[in-house]
Amino acid sequence: MSTVETPLHVAAEFPVLRREFGGRPVVYLDSAATSQTPQPVIDAMTGYYTESRASIHRGVYPLAVEATDLYEGARQRIARWLQSTPEETIFTANATASINLVAATWGRENVGAGDLVVLTETEHHSNIVPWQLLCAQRGAELAYVPMLDDGQLDLDALDALLARGPKVVAAVHISNVVGTINPIEEIARRAHAAGAVVVVDGSQAVPQIPVDLRALDADFYAWTGHKAYGPTGIGVLHGRRELLETMPPFMGGGHMIRQVGDTESTWTDLPWKFEAGTSQIAEAIGLGAAVDWIEQIGIERIRAHEAALLADALPRLAEVPGLRLHGPLDAAERGALISFVIDGAHPHDVGEILGREGVCIRTGHHCTQPLMRRLGAVATNRASYAVHSTTADTDRLLEALGTVARVLQL
Ligand SMILES: Cc1ncc(COP(=O)(O)O)c(C=O)c1O
Repeated sequence: MSTVETPLHVAAEFPVLRREFGGRPVVYLDSAATSQTPQPVIDAMTGYYTESRASIHRGVYPLAVEATDLYEGARQRIARWLQSTPEETIFTANATASINLVAATWGRENVGAGDLVVLTETEHHSNIVPWQLLCAQRGAELAYVPMLDDGQLDLDALDALLARGPKVVAAVHISNVVGTINPIEEIARRAHAAGAVVVVDGSQAVPQIPVDLRALDADFYAWTGHKAYGPTGIGVLHGRRELLETMPPFMGGGHMIRQVGDTESTWTDLPWKFEAGTSQIAEAIGLGAAVDWIEQIGIERIRAHEAALLADALPRLAEVPGLRLHGPLDAAERGALISFVIDGAHPHDVGEILGREGVCIRTGHHCTQPLMRRLGAVATNRASYAVHSTTADTDRLLEALGTVARVLQL
């Protein structure tokens, strides 16, 4: 058993962690897929439904003003937390919608036949498929920055691609499979010098490490609420104001217009130009509460806590017979998730046996099929940590992996 003491004791704030499976308390090691929800976030959403429900922006009566203030207040706090501005902070459905917005609006206006779009081999499908759709429509070319064997991106290969003058460089901040924290500031600096626009998928980064959007200097930064202790159904796109102002809207409808004529319309100001239709009001309020909750603990403390858990878990997992780890071996270089394969054990069998013991991990291709091909795997197992995790969770994971070896006779 480990002796590492982790400084955070917040598990009691997550109601779902009181559940039991197989007669034992659940061990939730799948926060990279979706995080659990702390009580204050549930309360904030319930508060909207029970006390403050009204449509926003249009009503002039006090209840509508209150709901609007809650929604816009959430935007302001989220923007401030990440060093962005409310005008540059657009609510979307999730990270996927955020990236599709960029590819469909900025992309269609600016990427043409023969242009180059650069991605990395470590992208989630949500930062691949929208660009594939764009490239197919516009006759543009896609190229990938390879991942090196240690899980880091090959920045020399990036430079070679940048020499071809790409229109876009799109990169994930923290890989949801190998866990690598990519050097976004450096990538953005090099890409900007080559005249490219930089799009970053921050879905795994925002809940795990301090993110300062001003310092990173990406042009677009997308993330998703349900991995950041917030509700499902809400994501965020931060964009550089100069670019957002020149982009056409993504969807048309109510709320995003200034004037609607019979044959054409004009658009309202940022950020609402990109928020057509009735907004995800409760979800935005819930995400604002999630950010408040993270800020109360401190993202630096969360990072230190999760890095300590990783530093403890990585060598212990490496000792499991037949287990191979993917990604950087140094906890300082990676986010709080660990992908691994076990010789002779299909990840789905591993996940199923662990599940019976109350240990929840993710198995599969993790929506990263190009990366799976690079790793020579069809699927991996992935254990991911969160603010509520403890070394006791790693103990239970290792114990359950012992069961896997027994059941599968490894
Ligand atoms: C790195 C990364 N990007 C994007 C996504 C997509 O998030 P969503 O499905 O909420 O849009 C995920 C979710 O698995 C992810 O891990």
